[in-house]
Amino acid sequence: MSLPSRVQLIDVGPRDGLQNEKQPVPAAVKIELVHRLQAAGLTEIEVTSFVSPKWVPQMADNAEVMGGIQRQAGVRYSVLTPNLQGFEAALKTRPDEIVVFGAASEAFSHKNINCSIAESIERFAPVVQAALAAGIAVRGAMSCTVGCPYEGDVAPERVAYLAGLMKQIGVQRVDVADTIGVGTPLRVQKAIEATLQHFDVDHVCGHFHDTYGQALSNTLAALQMGVRNFQSSVAGLGGCPYAKGATGNVSTEDVVYMLHGMGIATGIDLDKLVDAGAFISDFLGRKPNSNVAKAILNKRAG
Ligand code: HMG
Ligand code: MG
Repeated sequence: MSLPSRVQLIDVGPRDGLQNEKQPVPAAVKIELVHRLQAAGLTEIEVTSFVSPKWVPQMADNAEVMGGIQRQAGVRYSVLTPNLQGFEAALKTRPDEIVVFGAASEAFSHKNINCSIAESIERFAPVVQAALAAGIAVRGAMSCTVGCPYEGDVAPERVAYLAGLMKQIGVQRVDVADTIGVGTPLRVQKAIEATLQHFDVDHVCGHFHDTYGQALSNTLAALQMGVRNFQSSVAGLGGCPYAKGATGNVSTEDVVYMLHGMGIATGIDLDKLVDAGAFISDFLGRKPNSNVAKAILNKRAG
């Protein structure tokens, strides 16, 4: 088992985390959250999505949020763009990376982006081309790589198929996402193995929701395969509006604590990260959904 000495984390809290919040979160709060994340040492932040405001009202302030961020050198700001309309709106806000997002399950593709997997690839292809031509990096999120809320178990062959299509249209790196957090380590490893048929390990990110409490174990399982890029969400925020019952991503605090404890560097200051999580959790009126954050906050209080 050879573990990396450094891991790159992408905090998806402002986007994946907040997209499903029922109460409106003002743009100023989202901007402050991004500022706190970068102050804590995050160098990749998924800020927002350029999707239909009718489908995801919480992300309707995408341009305002992107425009309000005081950008820090060395930080990569990414946004989701499902089609050319979204890309064109996003382009004006100068993202460093755009994310096209597809699914390994047909049913989820229809529910989430209102088209089949094949149609989604047709929509993504010109987006990817335009982004690369504009010098913007391109990531592809692959949802439901182990399980789907509508179809149940998803076979690794479905993941390999989607990864192959993403590769063909020029996507530079992909996220292996367990959208509903049903995966367990060996199943997640199979999904990653399928992805590795088309992308090298440095172009694969783990994106694990923690619905069944498996996300940290799944992170370790991916690390053991050499994966060095992971997405997580400060304070464990989140969920997908088209995956009912699915909770947030694994919390960034828990991942950082585990990695640092294993002697793996992240460049992140855990105390400042806990502050960022406490800030957004206070705004939302609840405790951070992170064991590490709760432990550190309790220790500070005591
Ligand atoms: P559609 O209805 O099929 O699109 O939606 P359409 O092209 O037929 O257009 C219909 C209307 O939407 C038109 O407006 C368009 O202008 C508008 P109208 O004429 O009716 O007023 N429209 C847009 N508006 C703003 N931005 C756009 C855009 N495109 C069309 N980009 C669409 C297709 C993809 C837009 C829609 O299904 C949608 O917005 N879905 C939301 C998907 C989403 O945000 N899901 C959550 C993020 S994915 C996720 O969380 C998973 C991930 O974390 C990984 C994991 O965990 O699995 C990434
Ligand atoms: Mg997600």
